[in-house]
Amino acid sequence: MVPGSRRRFHLDGALLSAMVRRDRQAAGEIPDLQGLGPGPWRPGLGIRDSGFDDGDSAVDGERVWRELETLASFSDAPAPAVTRIVFDEMDLRARAYIKALCAEASLLVHEDAVGNTFARWLGRDPKLPPVATGSHCDAIPNAGRFDGTVGVLGGLEAIRALQRAGCQPRRSIDLVLFTSEEPTRFGIGCLGSRLLAAALDPSVGDTLTSNGESLNKIRASTGFSGALNDVPLQTGAYAAFVELHIEQGPILERLKLDIGVVTAIAAPASLRIFIEGEGGHAGAVLMPDRHDAFLAAAEIALAVEAAARSTGSSDTVATCGVCELFPGAINSVPSRARLEIDVRDIDPARRDSVLAKIRRASDDVASRRGVTVRSEPINADPPALCAQPIIDAIVSACDARQLRYLRMISRAYHDSLFMSRIAPAGMIFIPCRGGVSHRPDEYASPDAIAHGTADVGRYARFAGA
Ligand code: GLV
Ligand code: MN
Ligand code: MN
Repeated sequence: MVPGSRRRFHLDGALLSAMVRRDRQAAGEIPDLQGLGPGPWRPGLGIRDSGFDDGDSAVDGERVWRELETLASFSDAPAPAVTRIVFDEMDLRARAYIKALCAEASLLVHEDAVGNTFARWLGRDPKLPPVATGSHCDAIPNAGRFDGTVGVLGGLEAIRALQRAGCQPRRSIDLVLFTSEEPTRFGIGCLGSRLLAAALDPSVGDTLTSNGESLNKIRASTGFSGALNDVPLQTGAYAAFVELHIEQGPILERLKLDIGVVTAIAAPASLRIFIEGEGGHAGAVLMPDRHDAFLAAAEIALAVEAAARSTGSSDTVATCGVCELFPGAINSVPSRARLEIDVRDIDPARRDSVLAKIRRASDDVASRRGVTVRSEPINADPPALCAQPIIDAIVSACDARQLRYLRMISRAYHDSLFMSRIAPAGMIFIPCRGGVSHRPDEYASPDAIAHGTADVGRYARFAGA
């Protein structure tokens, strides 16, 4: 467990507990620092019905690290940055690599019409709803290599470790690779899991576009041509779902903890704002005569910041991450601007009040600057509560391995936000350096990844696989 070591990890037993506690207090739970207790879950899903003896499964941390490195090489940006846009060549090559690894592990792979990929390790009773794990492999422009990929390759290694230990799960275990968790190409996050959970109408195949081409056309050109109507899964299709992910925040690292047990996922919303002003010659149009679309956009961007700050809660965050100008010439007054704005909070009502403030501020800017402003909501999702039995299963996995953990909320969204609508779902967070994510210097240590991976395997046992 020496930081930076890439050898084989043997994560259970006395050695582990001695090492993870080397300069810490006792292993086990530390109090929930975020004031959010575990949420209720509908009963009757029976995930504690049976277990299997997972023996003393060992995670091959070195192998996961190597595979993460290979996966990171499928990128449109030079290392260490990763850019992997859904259905582009690098995304398809990354998927092919992951599918080959799954086939090597004798998993049965199938894909749905939007490219969600399911790799199944058949259980002794294949009629039972499987237990599932997984995440995404697409990456926003100039991202790092760990967001999503840790959950995919860690989930796969958890399965391989159980196989090596001679386990025979009663329930099948699925590794799920979700399509387009990132909103980069089609403007909306969690595209694949939204469709799986029937949270998005299949007509989006025609209405979502990228550079003027529809989702349907683009997916068909990459071999995914089935009907989007067939994508949704029935509630109960999975007995349980868990997603391993880097925290994307600083708390676990600061507190020197091994695992974050996610209790809830914050509510994300996003919108586009279109501004139409008046263009003209940058030298000739006099300042009092201008209706500059960019300056209106700039004021709106500042209003976004003010609206988020106005709640007084550090749980409210808002970002204006896209500003596109037309015609985009240094010597031309911008005539059109398009903003894309992301607003999140753990309290959906407070988030909605921020959205309302942004709309009011936009109207005010429009009348003062003589431009027109139109806003279009992209999504406004409720928060998700993780299922208590899943939280308990992850906690048991941590206790079994004497890891120190914290119940915490996820401020980032994840495919679990939508999987929680059709299955009892939860998330296992591991620390990442400085809490940095969506940046090339995103980093999670081999030890942290191996801990999380081993937790997925243990979790599967407690989840009745
Ligand atoms: C996920 O990528 C997010 O933006 O939370
Ligand atoms: Mn991300
Ligand atoms: Mn992610």
